[in-house]
Amino acid sequence: NTGALWGGRFADGPSPALAALSRSTHFDWRLAPYDLAGSKAHARVLHRAGLLTDDDVAGLLAGLDALTAKVASGEVVADESDEDVHGALERLLLDEVGAELGGRLRAGRSRNDQIATLFKVFLRDHARVVAGHVLDLVDALTDQAEAHLGAVMPGRTHLQHAQPVLLSHHLMAHAWPLVRDLARLRDWDARVAADSPYGSGALAGSSLGLDPEEVARDLGFTGSSANSIDGTAARDFVAEFAFVTAMVGVDVSRLAEEVILWATKEFDFVRLHDGYSTGSSIMPQKKNPDIAELARGKAGRVIGNLTGLLATLKALPLAYNRDLQEDKEPVFDSVDTLEVLLPAFTGMVATLTFNTARMADLAPQGFSLATDVAEWLVRQGVPFRVAHEVAGECVQRCEELGVELDGLTDEQFAAISPHLTPEVRSVLTVEGSVASRNGRGGTAPGRVREQLTELRDVVADH
Ligand code: ARG
Repeated sequence: NTGALWGGRFADGPSPALAALSRSTHFDWRLAPYDLAGSKAHARVLHRAGLLTDDDVAGLLAGLDALTAKVASGEVVADESDEDVHGALERLLLDEVGAELGGRLRAGRSRNDQIATLFKVFLRDHARVVAGHVLDLVDALTDQAEAHLGAVMPGRTHLQHAQPVLLSHHLMAHAWPLVRDLARLRDWDARVAADSPYGSGALAGSSLGLDPEEVARDLGFTGSSANSIDGTAARDFVAEFAFVTAMVGVDVSRLAEEVILWATKEFDFVRLHDGYSTGSSIMPQKKNPDIAELARGKAGRVIGNLTGLLATLKALPLAYNRDLQEDKEPVFDSVDTLEVLLPAFTGMVATLTFNTARMADLAPQGFSLATDVAEWLVRQGVPFRVAHEVAGECVQRCEELGVELDGLTDEQFAAISPHLTPEVRSVLTVEGSVASRNGRGGTAPGRVREQLTELRDVVADH
């Protein structure tokens, strides 16, 4: 016997090369507290099934508590001889309570149902942490939106001036996707909570009369797996988590890209707070948007974690395969990445100073009121096809004259079309333009205030 969890049928121990390949303690040791919690639940269920005496279960629970404390303090760690966190903890439990008692705990469970369960508990914990950080970012965006009600900016499509919008409207357009990410995390959590794999054993379930529902409740789940093969083999919960975290990365990266542009000399829309920007080692004048750039870069990384994981899963036969050991590092990385990125990013957003004068100045430029001219003509009874043509001619004339739309004289308007009476000037202001877009979801100030309330209400739910 080699001392490993599975030594009985082997005459020789693992070669050093196999051990080096097989070992996962350098990344799965962080699951130790979760494995210990699972072991406590398992000890209780063995006791209820009559497989442990009252003394046995008391001794095991005390030993597991003592071990939990030692793991937390760092007094015990995995060593070279341990294949994975489960093996390490069994070795340490035997040290704690003796081989006779410690050797009873493994009955009726497998590392396959263990890992599937405790990985879910780990991810559920971190889903809450990530959601808290996302919520903080949504709050920062909402606060900035509220602080700038009334400020206007050039709205863009294709990165070209399109129509003026309220800055608050634009900022909240970044908040809503994050709110949907929060909802995704919540939906994910409910699905995962209903499906505790403990009791699935290696793949076929347990012959020892253990009740998976009891373990599930003990570990904070609402139910246990309906199918033990599925319970041990499925990793869609990991992939879905990796997707949601990748989506958060992408949503943050879209805003990051705008902050980077906005902070350029050419845009000059925002100033970054000193505490949330960096300098150059050679160019004394530099103030760089490194947080936004790191956000953009790390989005690539969390996307990679998702795609790598999906590739690992795509052709696996049922049930457990060792390939599944590769499911952890990608999502550990996504969790660690977001947990360090989001607080910095939120700080950057919360401390942005907007150059609202500059934004207001640019809002009507680039003929961004041309749609307003066309829609004004429609309200005068002109078919939109004609109105679009006429407004387009106005733009052409402006380009020739080097003026914006409000720079045309009454005579110049009239020469383009008799429909263009001087009253058209009523829509040739940014204020008039945004105020006119007053349907639900539009950029009119009243609608944007209403939207702010709606956003705060939705967020209060999370
Ligand atoms: N360390 C493995 C994992 O992360 C769990 C162990 C299952 N090993 C096995 N030979 N069945 O998936």
